[in-house]
Amino acid sequence: MQRPSPAVAVAKKPASTPARVCFSSLLSRQANRTSMCGIVGYIGSQEAEELLLTGLKRLEYRGYDSAGLATVDDAALHVQKQEGKVDDLRSSLNGASVAGTTGIGHTRWATHGAPNDVNAHPHVSSDGAFALVHNGIIENHGAIKERLEEKGYAFQSETDTEVLVKLIEEVKRATDLSLPEAVRQALTQVVGAYGIAVVSREDPDLLIAARNGSPLILGVGDDEYFVGSDAAPLVEHTRQVVYLEDGEMATLRHSGYEVTTIDNEPLKKEVHELEWSLGEIEKGGYDHFMLKEIMEQPDALEDAMRGRVRPEDNQIHLGGLHGHWDQLREADRIVIAACGTSWHAGLVGEYLIESASRVPVEVEYASEFRYRDPVLREGDVVLVISQSGETADTLAAVREAHSKGIPCFGICNVVGSTIARETDAGVYLHAGPEIGVASTKAFTAQVTVLSMIALKLAEGRTLSKAELADNIRALAGVPDKVRRVLNASNGALQSMAHTYRYASNFLYLGRGYNFPVALEGALKLKEISYIHAEGYPAAEMKHGPIALIDRSMPVVFMAMKDSTYDKVLSNIEEVAAREGSVIAITDDKDAELESLCEAVVEIPQTKEFLSPLLTVIPLQLLSYHIAVLRGCHVDQPRNLAKSVTVE
Ligand code: G6P
Repeated sequence: MQRPSPAVAVAKKPASTPARVCFSSLLSRQANRTSMCGIVGYIGSQEAEELLLTGLKRLEYRGYDSAGLATVDDAALHVQKQEGKVDDLRSSLNGASVAGTTGIGHTRWATHGAPNDVNAHPHVSSDGAFALVHNGIIENHGAIKERLEEKGYAFQSETDTEVLVKLIEEVKRATDLSLPEAVRQALTQVVGAYGIAVVSREDPDLLIAARNGSPLILGVGDDEYFVGSDAAPLVEHTRQVVYLEDGEMATLRHSGYEVTTIDNEPLKKEVHELEWSLGEIEKGGYDHFMLKEIMEQPDALEDAMRGRVRPEDNQIHLGGLHGHWDQLREADRIVIAACGTSWHAGLVGEYLIESASRVPVEVEYASEFRYRDPVLREGDVVLVISQSGETADTLAAVREAHSKGIPCFGICNVVGSTIARETDAGVYLHAGPEIGVASTKAFTAQVTVLSMIALKLAEGRTLSKAELADNIRALAGVPDKVRRVLNASNGALQSMAHTYRYASNFLYLGRGYNFPVALEGALKLKEISYIHAEGYPAAEMKHGPIALIDRSMPVVFMAMKDSTYDKVLSNIEEVAAREGSVIAITDDKDAELESLCEAVVEIPQTKEFLSPLLTVIPLQLLSYHIAVLRGCHVDQPRNLAKSVTVE
């Protein structure tokens, strides 16, 4: 990553109604990924506007739904913010005055609160004196807001950030402290994660940055300083950076900067030199977004479960479906509609929900469902799954359900997306932006959300209290197991990729919960390496695919020691007898299995219904490494699009 410079940095001069977002309004606000939004700040001799806009543009890879900036000039604060992309913000400026050599900017990827102009950052104090941008979540914002409302503060947005701004304002008003001191005191009152940057019209020579749980970096230039939530907006201006740690605050002025703890203890911070190129920084040091997203899965799943999976009181809490559980529990039928990888997640959902709730589930390709005038009756519920929330066929499935008077719920990653808005209720993934065209972390987050739904439906129906508690604990333990799979198997799968990269065909086989994983493994390989691959239920092999098997045909089996194992083992024997090269993904590598396989990848044990969350990981890695070795364009495979908004 970055190489520490031998020098120790010393401050140069120690200083003294919007669009409706059906699910979001109901969501637990604890469920928030702290690193999704982007922050940029500047203080120096150049006009800040252009620097902030290009900085924000550099942060767009993290996802975006709104952006804004604030500059200070001649005792005036100029704020411009806008739903949409940074380019929309730029166009909206069109002649507006955002002059000044001090400023902050923000690009937002909503996890709660509609993506609109009002919720966009910066947020400004009621007296218009200062503006703040924030990444993270203020968990006790509700209590603080109540206190402030009692004192007469009014709130325009749905954000916790506005609560923080007004808390600082109140501290400042009540104590007559300077802004840095008021910020410091206010921060001691908040619980949660933040990375913030603040500017004030009362002091144009001041930029404040503070961090707790949400990354912030200072860029040290020649008589100018930068703030960034990562290095992407800084790297074209300076490679000298200071990493703020949790509980630290920086005050930056034209003449220099100082870093202290939130409790005002002065700190000497080391200056590091960035070695990464911009592209590498955006990808977090990985060669491709796909690999970054594969590696992010433990965090993405933790985020998907945060505040929702509660082993402490054996509860599943999905605020977005609050008030709709009876509809789901008492449904005559649940019809899941989706496309691509989301459809595969839907198939896992069928197994999960049927077994948990005993409600019949059908899974439909949205593109078929929408055109065949499907039979939908009162008592049916449609559940659509879409990472982007914009896939045209899936959206049409929502409209088809509604046109027949059928309730339709959604599972989406992108907050405020069309599907999220048009469905009656639903659950966000909180997996963070997915940029690689081949979906990875969205799939596992979708399966995680479906597991939560299934467990909630099983409560008081198919699972006793003790069994439910046991399953909730198992689900909560999945991210760690995913981490173990990633750490233990990446190297082995990379070597395996060398062996299999010239294959022209692959077969993926699994049973039960792992049949959809076989489909997903085959899809991943096809998408990014252009090798023909088929996924099948293992038992179906003898009805056709077995004819293809010879020594040039790698066959990947999901061979977990669960209720399907003995049957899967027989299928493996059938392939081995025809000299097929068997690769097995298993949670118990015994001698018998090893004797039949060319390669065995061992993963941790888990409950059968959770195994897709683990078995899919080696398949993602295998496809990724094969595609890299074949010189394919991993993040943007030919002919494919991330979001298919055409029919
Ligand atoms: C495209 C993408 C796939 C994705 C599918 C459905 O084909 O390349 O990765 O699974 O669309 O997208 P959605 O956003 O609806 O999940």
